[in-house]
Amino acid sequence: MVQAPCLYPAIRNYVIMTARTTLVLKNVTMPDGRVTDISSGSGYVTHVGSSQPCDHTIDCTGLLVLPGAVDMHVHMRGGVQFEKEDWQTGSRSALAGGVTVVVDQPNTIPPVTSPGGLFDRVEDAKKHSLCNFAINSGVDALTSFEPMWQAGALAFGEIFFAPSSYGEAISEAVLRQAFERIASLGALATIHAEKIIPVPDQDLVSHDQVRSSEGEAEAVRDVNQCNKSRCRVHFCHLSSSASIEAASGSVEVTPHHLFLSQDSFDPSSALGKVNPPLRTEEKRRELWKRWNRIDVIASDHAPHTLDEKRAAFVDAPAGMPGVETMMPLLAAKVLKREISVASLIEKTSSTPANLLRIQKAGFDIGNRADFALYPKEPAKITGDTLHSKCGWTPFEGHRAVFPGRVIMGGEQVYFEGEFTKGSPEWLPGGGYRKTR
Ligand code: DOR
Ligand code: ZN
Repeated sequence: MVQAPCLYPAIRNYVIMTARTTLVLKNVTMPDGRVTDISSGSGYVTHVGSSQPCDHTIDCTGLLVLPGAVDMHVHMRGGVQFEKEDWQTGSRSALAGGVTVVVDQPNTIPPVTSPGGLFDRVEDAKKHSLCNFAINSGVDALTSFEPMWQAGALAFGEIFFAPSSYGEAISEAVLRQAFERIASLGALATIHAEKIIPVPDQDLVSHDQVRSSEGEAEAVRDVNQCNKSRCRVHFCHLSSSASIEAASGSVEVTPHHLFLSQDSFDPSSALGKVNPPLRTEEKRRELWKRWNRIDVIASDHAPHTLDEKRAAFVDAPAGMPGVETMMPLLAAKVLKREISVASLIEKTSSTPANLLRIQKAGFDIGNRADFALYPKEPAKITGDTLHSKCGWTPFEGHRAVFPGRVIMGGEQVYFEGEFTKGSPEWLPGGGYRKTR
């Protein structure tokens, strides 16, 4: 059970605290260093502190225990794009990487721009997803915002303010109107902001010129200007320090912009082609210096097959898989003490939950009982052990720590390579009206 019952917080917590405890995580080291037990029942944390005996107990001594991550930017594909990914493989990849909630982007084929399309997407995910999921509404010149909100869209976007793989750009005039409508609903607008200049796009270096970081920062400023109605704006996958500085709204950064640069690939290889592009090593290092200003880390998991990525650079689709490697790459940074565990939890779990207005996972009574348990020994990422259907990773050989066990809604859903279907749920947005 993920959506909180609609009660006053005190009554809600009382109801949760009196739920029967079905799982205890013992000896959990909390982000502040305290060691305690976490009890859960009916999907939520019911008690923090010394536990009562319980049928199912997991000893977490020596493990890094993190709340399940909310990856607010994934492309799960399916439908006619089933060769790249589908809900089953994509959600397995998410769980094996410690992600218990994914937010699917609407640039599917066809795009999710009608209530019927949203309903079909939800039904497909309900049948096949192993993790919790939400679906965003696409935005174009013809979008009917209120019906999409009532159909259960969690947020609007990614709104393409520049074209990208399977995404057509909208104009400033359409964006301005979209902001007005989305603001009136109190919903969140998520934006893909870039500017494109028409020079030949033939390798990773020229791709970075076609879609430069300066152009991205300019597009961010244009978006700010369009937002006269003070809509809640979230900037997806910003790739440079200048763009982050320009953003007035929440800022998302991807692991690929933090861990990879143009130097990570042969320049003519489209494996490294992604929008916004990978930048120089210098700019990648600059990005880390903005860690404190980054609100959200999300993967922009965009699986394309190796065959597609081996096409001529200009024709190959942009994007790379990443939902399974996001937390492992960052958990390895925690173990090396390069980032704090509290900052990692904020950027990958509590802040995205707050922005999306879904119940957060974590260590307090009433939180969703979603946790991933990481050993403290790093390993190396290898594409052939991952679960995405696309079968490759841009992070081959990188140091990472994969969770051995994942709990979702108080149920164990992943244990050392084995999945168990728990109780995955659809998370509709605040405007949802049940009609069917
Ligand atoms: O590289 C990208 N791939 N950027 C996007 O904005 C879309 C994504 C995709 O859907 O493949
Ligand atoms: Zn995008």
